[in-house]
Amino acid sequence: MSAPIKVSTGAKYARLMSVAGYRGSRVVDNAEMCTYIDSSDEWIQQRTGIAERRWATEEETPAFMCVQAATKAIERAGLGASDIDAVIVSTVSNFRQYPSLACEVARALGIPAPAAYDIRAACAGFCYALSQADGLIRTGSAHHVLIIGMELLSKQIDLTDRGTAFLFGDGAGAAVVGPSETPAIGPAVWGSDPSQDDAIWTEDWFDALGTGRPPVVHMNGRAVYLWGTTFIAEKAVEALDKAGLAPEQLDVFIPHQANNRITDALLRRLHLPETVTVSRDIRHMGNVSAASIPLAMDALLESGEAKSGDNALIIGFGAGLVFAGQVVVLP
Ligand SMILES: CC(C)(COP(=O)(O)OP(=O)(O)OC[C@H]1O[C@@H](n2cnc3c(N)ncnc32)[C@H](O)[C@@H]1OP(=O)(O)O)[C@@H](O)C(=O)NCCC(=O)NCCS
Repeated sequence: MSAPIKVSTGAKYARLMSVAGYRGSRVVDNAEMCTYIDSSDEWIQQRTGIAERRWATEEETPAFMCVQAATKAIERAGLGASDIDAVIVSTVSNFRQYPSLACEVARALGIPAPAAYDIRAACAGFCYALSQADGLIRTGSAHHVLIIGMELLSKQIDLTDRGTAFLFGDGAGAAVVGPSETPAIGPAVWGSDPSQDDAIWTEDWFDALGTGRPPVVHMNGRAVYLWGTTFIAEKAVEALDKAGLAPEQLDVFIPHQANNRITDALLRRLHLPETVTVSRDIRHMGNVSAASIPLAMDALLESGEAKSGDNALIIGFGAGLVFAGQVVVLP
């Protein structure tokens, strides 16, 4: 028989040590949006809850936004760049194929030699990355993992499409995940429905070349809405159950910021008491896909609406269709 190999073992638990965000600096309100599409402030607010969104300027590149958010997150974790040994960036809107955005960010931050890679899980990306970081730490593959959700969706919008143009924004949200002595990241409920791969999609680059613009988002809004309000609602309940919490033991709910009406449906299914703080960051940001949840978490902590140590349910869902959610203790 061959000699047995050694395997690594890590910390018993992992936790979010910090979170921080960076928002594109250009505020695009619904009045401006209605100069591009035939719509109204009233319709957009009533259907989605969005009053304005943030778009990046030319200087606010994917790497720039990631670095702004990550610098703050590392500082808030009380760490230095050399303490980070893995970087995971989730994005669907980095137009550079390679090197990965994770490698670009590691270089800019001066992180010496981390495991570094990008994932593409759309609006579930932050929760996917968190689940991976949790696993890496508990198996001993990494000690401190920097996870980032970054999107530059303004570059993927078709400003002639009144079904999608008003929805999306730009920004980055970063978090440091490290070892913990107590449980602080609940089991992930994650998966996909590949049969709905045509619900949200873009052309590939070669097909887009002839159009003279980058690939843009196409969406069957009603299909996504239906999936969000039914299937995802059950998954949110499952994530809470798997963490062993009753609705009244939850302090904060941070669903993907896709649509306030989807959030309302999730709330009804979860039977959360009114004392639970619910993120409505969509009002000022629109949908920022993988960046939505960390940006929303950062905003609630900054405003004092949520506090460190609170139990929060996070759940993301989007193009794929994919989803992931878990209960976390806020940093
Ligand atoms: C996009 C979304 C807001 C559209 O709302 P909707 O109620 O489904 O809209 P519909 O396309 O069915 O259109 C309803 C009516 O509004 C009109 N309409 C569509 N877009 C409009 C706009 N931008 N402004 C004003 N009216 C609009 C339609 O013409 C239609 O009018 P009619 O009833 O006279 O025919 C909604 O489908 C949605 O939020 N879906 C989920 C999307 C999502 O979350 N995606 C991201 C997931 S990661």
